[in-house]
Amino acid sequence: MKTHEVSNETMSEDRFVLSPSLLSSDFSRLQQELTDLEEAGLPWVHWDVMDGHFVPNITLGPMIIKKCRDKSGLFFDVHLMIERPDEYLEDFATAGADLICVHAEATSHLERTVSRIRELGAKPAVALNPHTPLCQVEYLLPQLDMVLIMSVNPGFSGQQFIPFAIKKVRDLKKMIQDQGGTTLIQVDGGVDLSNAGKLTASGADVLVSGSAFFRNPPYRQRYQQFRETVRAGRRG
Ligand code: DX5
Ligand code: ZN
Repeated sequence: MKTHEVSNETMSEDRFVLSPSLLSSDFSRLQQELTDLEEAGLPWVHWDVMDGHFVPNITLGPMIIKKCRDKSGLFFDVHLMIERPDEYLEDFATAGADLICVHAEATSHLERTVSRIRELGAKPAVALNPHTPLCQVEYLLPQLDMVLIMSVNPGFSGQQFIPFAIKKVRDLKKMIQDQGGTTLIQVDGGVDLSNAGKLTASGADVLVSGSAFFRNPPYRQRYQQFRETVRAGRRG
């Protein structure tokens, strides 16, 4: 599968995707949250999987994703913040993840991990912690549907955006264009209305938003605000 298929399937006319991070949602009514997002016109949803080792927090596993899969038409964007991700790829693919994102720092044989994700029928993506250089993914770009630039140290929602992520997005965009590729750029951590326009103008295609999205319902209106900010950012 090619990267642009992700775009054609789910990109808004603004050529950007907002992927709300469920970490900031109300887990006691998870199914309703998913329905509300879909009804509000959101195309993607971001699942944060944490194991208490790669990051200090523990969240959810494939069982929960599987339970929700049949009841949701959203594109499931699954961000694995776990050690030894290779051991769990099949479980997440079977659970219904559309895209599986592994951290470059969590696996020694990244090319093998990425190939395995595609073999399992999901779109492969790689996440880079704030300090991890772009060269980690440079040679893998043709195999990747998306690269995730972390703009906080992963583990919790509600943290402050690390400003150098903007330069990293710009540099990655150039790297992708120089190779003639179509890999999407996602940014995750501290994304809100104050930086969304700058990020998309710098080359980000997919913005993850946890607290800035869920703390400001109704979701349709919040989504609209993000879209307007992105449009304004593109204008200049
Ligand atoms: C952080 C997670 C994020 C987090 C984003 O480790 O990967 O997806 O939920 O939340 P905000 O947007 O509040 O920083
Ligand atoms: Zn995330």
